[in-house]
Amino acid sequence: MGHGPVSDGVRVLPPNDPRQYDDLAGEWWRPDGAFAMLHWLARARAALVPPASRPDAVLVDLGCGAGLMAPHLAGKGYRHVGVDLTRSALEQAAAHGVTALAGDVTAVPLADGCADVVAAGEVLEHVPDWRAAVAEACRLLRPGGLLVLDTLNDTLLARLVAVELGERLPTVPRGIHDPRLFVDDRALVVECARHGVTLRVRGVRPGLRATLGWLVRRSRGGAARDVSHDGPVIRPTWSTAVLYQGRGVRHG
Ligand SMILES: C[S@@+](CC[C@H](N)C(=O)[O-])C[C@H]1O[C@@H](n2cnc3c(N)ncnc32)[C@H](O)[C@@H]1O
Repeated sequence: MGHGPVSDGVRVLPPNDPRQYDDLAGEWWRPDGAFAMLHWLARARAALVPPASRPDAVLVDLGCGAGLMAPHLAGKGYRHVGVDLTRSALEQAAAHGVTALAGDVTAVPLADGCADVVAAGEVLEHVPDWRAAVAEACRLLRPGGLLVLDTLNDTLLARLVAVELGERLPTVPRGIHDPRLFVDDRALVVECARHGVTLRVRGVRPGLRATLGWLVRRSRGGAARDVSHDGPVIRPTWSTAVLYQGRGVRHG
């Protein structure tokens, strides 16, 4: 069973209500917890980030949550600055070495061009005005800076796979998504281009056999104890129709 807005003693919240992240605060850093898939995605997103090309390089992590990218960025030479609405998550991010800033990704309290890299992992599909968040991501990038992101596509298939199926699995909290906010990949590419970032997108998914194996181990109580196993690898796939990554450089 997924975690989420059930009525037996747990408060019932509407889909995508950010207060869900407070209710789930204890789940962030549990490798077999409700945010397990975010760990797999954070590793895949961080793999798109090259080592810093200069001293004092800054990576701004929009909607950083509890800072799950931090272990995967260690040693790459960035100051990792995280921006999020949820204070309980930011406290955990700070405990993992992230410079934590309370703020909305549609109005980030940072200067133009301050970032060598901007990451926006699994956040655009939670923002009512994703175009405003994209404008902010591009504004923060210095010329030559890199945008990396992943999000859910605005398709019927994404609703079926990520919400109807995904939120019934223990890897995604139930009620965390509002599919009306999902982000069309072509519209995202156009929006990034309007703000000076040439974005390339590719579909990604967790390996199916590894995910089944992970679910079986978890059902036997083994996923969290298996330190040699970091969870399924997120792989490129032929279609962007469900989950996709984007990577693009700011010109100008
Ligand atoms: C699905 S979680 C992803 C967290 C993190 N990027 C990761 O991949 O582990 C979405 C995060 O976005 C944050 N969030 C949602 N809307 C936001 C907004 N408008 N401004 C800032 N943070 C937001 C939530 O608080 C939550 O921490």
